[in-house]
Amino acid sequence: YHVTWDAVSAERGGYPHFMLKEIHEQPRAVRDTLRGRVSDDLSRVELPELGLEDEDIQAIDRIHIVACGTSWHAGLVGKAAIEAFARIPVNVEIASEYRYSDPIVTDNTLVITITQSGETADTLAAMREMKKRGVRVVAITNVVGSSAAREADSTIITWAGPEIAVASTKAYTTQLVALYLLAVRFGLSRGTLAEEKAREVLAALDDLPQVVEQVLDTAPQIESFAKRYKDAHDTFFIGRGIDYAVSLEGALKLKEISYIHAEAYAAGELKHGTLALITDGVPVIALAMQPELYEKTLSNIVEVKARGAFVLGLTWVGNEDLEKTVDEVIYLPKTMPLLAPVAAVIPLQLLAYYAAVARGNDVDKPRNLAKSVTVE
Ligand code: G6P
Repeated sequence: YHVTWDAVSAERGGYPHFMLKEIHEQPRAVRDTLRGRVSDDLSRVELPELGLEDEDIQAIDRIHIVACGTSWHAGLVGKAAIEAFARIPVNVEIASEYRYSDPIVTDNTLVITITQSGETADTLAAMREMKKRGVRVVAITNVVGSSAAREADSTIITWAGPEIAVASTKAYTTQLVALYLLAVRFGLSRGTLAEEKAREVLAALDDLPQVVEQVLDTAPQIESFAKRYKDAHDTFFIGRGIDYAVSLEGALKLKEISYIHAEAYAAGELKHGTLALITDGVPVIALAMQPELYEKTLSNIVEVKARGAFVLGLTWVGNEDLEKTVDEVIYLPKTMPLLAPVAAVIPLQLLAYYAAVARGNDVDKPRNLAKSVTVE
């Protein structure tokens, strides 16, 4: 009789892959990233590590968010939140482009870099360049003591815990949380976010861990869809506003680990380009998480249905209307629309995961990709 101890499997906490473990860790990761940063009465954001006083925040005249990959996708949602709550214009830039673009900055520009690892070469180079020009840099990173954390003027740590799978999951959702906190903090300091509204946002943020928990229950439905569509050649992700930002992340996840070609389109833009590629049976994942944009998105879903697409729709619980148009619906708990990306990305992470597993790919170590890209 002989007991074998598989250390790697123990590290994976019983999950077959790190990626699945990390997807399931998201309720905890989101909770840890919020912990201590929202006052008990849900009225204020506490981010002393930011090192900015109300006057400093009031003086900011523009923000450049700079990042790569999934972190860049988080930045796109961050822009929407900061512009909505704090009314500061935000550009979201790909670090490898930004650093060579001679960006227009003022004395009151704030650069926010987002980097899970804190070691991405292009992001660090962009940061250093901006610091040289005297611009204040805040880093959002998951690694305490990383180069980004050491070199930035201030650092907001996401408490996702170590992310081992190459495809980023819990780092993304916690980056979103950090950006929402910043947006509320900025909005309160600038008086652009009413206190009552701030409470509403902070209460919704406080609910996110439970929301994420419920979203994870969609896993069996996603797994079944992934098994049926694992041999697809092309897939399309469509959405409007921040649903489009999440579509970009969903398409990236699918490409990274399942190697199925995927494209994300702003729903209204599809007809200006590749609608010709929507033919019988092509899977389209349609995000309809924004009530204000619902009717418009629906009209784009009708367009792809008319070309024979198989549409998997994502919408909030209670919006049964979508069933009339699409082939299959995934219902996600209703949350504040600006926070919906935290919920909506999870089925897309699971879709990429189950498709990759069904195709027999090395999920945690996809071909040609590295967890941390320290070359330019
Ligand atoms: C690599 C990873 C991606 C990640 C990107 C940026 O390409 O494979 O998952 O989004 O780098 O990484 P960072 O650590 O800067 O967030």
